[in-house]
Amino acid sequence: MSEPEPVPSGVLAGRVAVVTGGLSGIGAAAVRRFLDEGASVVAGDLRADRPSELAAEPAGRLIVRSADVADEADVRGLVDTAVERFGRLDVMFNNAGVLGAIGPIATADMDEVDRTLAVNLRGVFLGMKHAARVMRPLRSGSIISTSSPAGLAGGQGPHAYSAAKAAVIGLTRSVAAELRADRIRVNTVVPGATVTAMMADVATGDAADLEGAAEKMAATAWMDRPIRPEDVVEAVLFLASDASRFVTGETLSVDGGMTSAPGSSPFLTERFAGTSAIFENGRRTERH
Ligand SMILES: NC(=O)c1ccc[n+]([C@@H]2O[C@H](COP(=O)([O-])OP(=O)(O)OC[C@H]3O[C@@H](n4cnc5c(N)ncnc54)[C@H](O)[C@@H]3O)[C@@H](O)[C@H]2O)c1
Repeated sequence: MSEPEPVPSGVLAGRVAVVTGGLSGIGAAAVRRFLDEGASVVAGDLRADRPSELAAEPAGRLIVRSADVADEADVRGLVDTAVERFGRLDVMFNNAGVLGAIGPIATADMDEVDRTLAVNLRGVFLGMKHAARVMRPLRSGSIISTSSPAGLAGGQGPHAYSAAKAAVIGLTRSVAAELRADRIRVNTVVPGATVTAMMADVATGDAADLEGAAEKMAATAWMDRPIRPEDVVEAVLFLASDASRFVTGETLSVDGGMTSAPGSSPFLTERFAGTSAIFENGRRTERH
């Protein structure tokens, strides 16, 4: 006789999540953590049959499905799979993304731009649409989408990517305002440069060389080390769980201060050390 399955415990015990881009990087780390915290998970990614960063399925709580987030039927399928197989949907993590079209604005290839917007914006829109469809009758749920520092400031990424990531933040706020009445929360997470296949490709030219990328990224890290997917997922878990019960429409950066605290104040330099002074009417008044 086989052992009875252990009853899952954790902050997401009994909850059901869909994670897009769930076979790599931040998405895969979210799937692993959600499972550890007791959730059942449907992970969607472009090619479910490729080798993934996910370990073996724990006690029937993980379903992996091929899905292109730009395709409405595929996104509907992920959400319906969650409902059919696990009974409900509590957490939608719209995380799939591509760097997409690169290059100067004047020579942009519009087919590449359209595809980039389709994955990074339309894909998030579809995730919100179908999550809301099944969450509304439950009058609860948490929708989280992955944006980027490129959506908050210029010069941080390719144009189409930046436009889509900014739009994800706008869409999040707009949908949060609508779904608040149904107690469905909608938030955005903004990872700084994170050690994943996407960044490894940029940093080393080899998407599989995560440790080579981590080494290169250490030189420009905003804190003591490069950000790992697990660091981002701590924030995602907060937004997914009841700990963030009244948090909605928010943009939560996990970037070591890159977007909110990028400067270094001139008033903290050696020149002012040991001085207590106030600046008033354009003059510095020494106090002692
Ligand atoms: N790594 C970073 O530094 C960083 C920084 C800011 C934001 N992000 C965002 O984080 C998210 C996750 O990226 P990552 O860094 O983990 O990269 P990653 O390349 O490791 O993972 C992205 C996953 O999305 C999947 N995917 C791509 N297009 C898809 C589609 N059309 N349908 C379904 N799945 C698709 C890929 O197959 C891959 O498994 C993305 O939205 C990305 O833009 C990443």
